[in-house]
Amino acid sequence: MTSIGLLISGRGSNMDAILDRVESGDLKANVSFVASDRPGAPGLEKAAARGIKTELLPYENGKEAAEEHLHRLWRRHDLDWLVLAGFMRILSPGFVSSHAGRIVNIHPALLPSFPGAHGIEDAWNYGVKVTGVTVHLVDELVDHGTILSQMPVRVKPDDNMETLERRIHRAEHRQYWRTLEKLFSGIIHTGKDDSR
Ligand code: GRF
Repeated sequence: MTSIGLLISGRGSNMDAILDRVESGDLKANVSFVASDRPGAPGLEKAAARGIKTELLPYENGKEAAEEHLHRLWRRHDLDWLVLAGFMRILSPGFVSSHAGRIVNIHPALLPSFPGAHGIEDAWNYGVKVTGVTVHLVDELVDHGTILSQMPVRVKPDDNMETLERRIHRAEHRQYWRTLEKLFSGIIHTGKDDSR
């Protein structure tokens, strides 16, 4: 069974959507742990309540210490994939390159447009008519690696930031587990030269 670790920083709605599909058997994976950089992340409590092992990454001791902890977790659980679900830290190039092509992230905009921590707001403020969700591999640059899937979300004339945000999150919850299932089962290949 594919072994995955989940990284979160906040409420963990993407994590919850993934855990729902693991429980239902739609996503064939074993969630070895959920880790957070923030002790108070509401998602950590939710994961623990679901019987998942939780971990706190010691960022208060610096990035190196936190990533060393993550390396150890990776080895201990013999992870196949690390899945970022609202993890708000930037992993160092050294960490990423030692697990190259094995770290996945979701971004709430259509990359390469609107990277960064405020993808939804930036797209809204720009006035785009279509935005969306991107699932991608993590590389050494921020919100940059190979795109695995995208789902467009149309901006409606009567939208405001909040209604748009809700639809983007709904799209994330539908899109992330489906992409992971395809990735884990080999339907999505990650090599650059594969046909899309
Ligand atoms: C999501 O929109 C994710 O794409 C972004 O941060 C948000 C996290 O939300 N990176 P949640 O913690 O999964 O609810």
